Amino acid sequence: MPTKICCIGAGYVGGPTCSVIALKGGDNVKVTVVDINQERIDAWNSDELPIYEPGLDEVVKQCRGKNLFFSTDVVSAVKEAELIFVSVNTPTKSYGIGKGCAADVRYVESCARTIAEHSESSKIVIEKSTVPARTAETLQKILQANCRDGITFDILSNPEFLAEGTAIKDLFEPDRVLIGGEQSERGQAAIEKLTEVYAYWVPRERILHTNTWSSELSKLAANAFLAQRISSINAMSAICESTGADVSEVARAIGMDSRLGSKFLRASVGFGGSCFQKDILNLVYLAESLNLPEVADYWRQVVTLNDYQERRFSRRIIRCLFNTVSTKKICLLGFAFKKDTGDTRESAAIYIAQHLMDEGANISVYDPKVKHAQIVHDLKSVSRDDPARVERLVSIETDPYAAMSGAHAIVVLTEWDEFVDYDYKKVYETLPKPAYIFDGRLILDHSKLKSIGFNVEVIGKSV
Ligand code: NAD
Ligand code: UGA
Repeated sequence: MPTKICCIGAGYVGGPTCSVIALKGGDNVKVTVVDINQERIDAWNSDELPIYEPGLDEVVKQCRGKNLFFSTDVVSAVKEAELIFVSVNTPTKSYGIGKGCAADVRYVESCARTIAEHSESSKIVIEKSTVPARTAETLQKILQANCRDGITFDILSNPEFLAEGTAIKDLFEPDRVLIGGEQSERGQAAIEKLTEVYAYWVPRERILHTNTWSSELSKLAANAFLAQRISSINAMSAICESTGADVSEVARAIGMDSRLGSKFLRASVGFGGSCFQKDILNLVYLAESLNLPEVADYWRQVVTLNDYQERRFSRRIIRCLFNTVSTKKICLLGFAFKKDTGDTRESAAIYIAQHLMDEGANISVYDPKVKHAQIVHDLKSVSRDDPARVERLVSIETDPYAAMSGAHAIVVLTEWDEFVDYDYKKVYETLPKPAYIFDGRLILDHSKLKSIGFNVEVIGKSV
């Protein structure tokens, strides 16, 4: 009999993770991914999946309808499952106590109540969502207080470390899989049961077992450390711009120290994505709640520096364009928070567009994967006082050359590969002079652009 697995939450994590579990587990597992969002489930069951992720289509096509199912029938999936992943969103709270900092765990709690109400057999409940430390304790209390007699729940923490754009690769070959659980005999048996699922493709020495609280905190710590490296190199980029140093050379020089390592040292317009800021603020809130203000301040600075980097870049554009961008066309190349995803959550592009719209710029946007409606939605969210300005100031193009044509400045905000190969000579002919190009991702051939005639402005160096 296959192990029956349910995943509540068919988002960027639940969908890809469970598709890979189905692929690698084969006949040994039956996986049902459920969500309350009908549209999302319909998309998972269609030819156009709700998220763009390289390699995902192939994985889903191989398993869907065989041992992988997408459904809105949460209750049936919960009843049937032995293992239940909770992979729902845990955004920053936008109301009440901890507003703007604490994680909103109401969706996690609602899953716990559904599981307790409908379970007719004992279950292993797995926190896949990123949650504040000690959320497992809350889950246990809610489950035990609301379940039928004779039914027990074991709670595991199994945070996800995949990055968008490389999710399938990360899931196929994870650096590690982390499973936290209770040290009791039952807790260890639950850990072993989940370990068996991953062991279909992950070497056992990469499956790490810890106590529950270490696992929960390690997820916040990992994201905080990663984001801290980006803020550190971005802080250096500001110094580079004023000293003649080149941030790419500095990154290379420090990254060759094996103690530091070379990854996550790419200076940029600032990190985006749904998690770095949210998880650091979650950590800050935790530290504040534990009366550790110095620790809270230390981590908060990573976010402060990121906001500064976005603002600094916008100001540089405005300054270079003779301190006025009003009515000037500015082309934004890229809107996703990184390449190979259509996700725009917390993308630096949103905030840079906001700063430019505040100055009255006309913005044209091109992104190969982000949908038109998403860009409009994001720009309206930063135009609350005047939502109509989006229609007035913004054009969204499906052809990059149309987006760039006639622009006073071209601004690279996402590191999509195709941006490198455009015919910038052809583009240059259409631009008012002096023509400016701002490389916020350090991906273009700067000397070639200069030889064409562009004024080139790059994060972290003077060209
Ligand atoms: P998401 O918003 O894409 O997906 C969450 C899904 O949960 C939504 O489709 C929503 O409809 C569904 N949902 C919410 N409440 C529900 C309920 N009660 N019953 C059924 N479905 C419900 O979020 P995501 O990006 O997949 O992130 C999920 C969690 O994983 C978050 O805690 C996040 O911090 C963490 N995480 C995300 C990433 C990432 O790359 N996006 C990576 C690692 C960890
Ligand atoms: C990040 C982590 O890398 C994952 O391990 C984690 O699971 C995930 O958050 C999460 O918890 O959600 P993700 O946000 O998808 O993954 O993508 P990253 O590759 O980490 O990039 C995040 C942001 O940092 C992007 O805007 C990216 O452009 C930026 N970045 C990244 C830099 O500016 N410089 C770098 O050197 C690396």
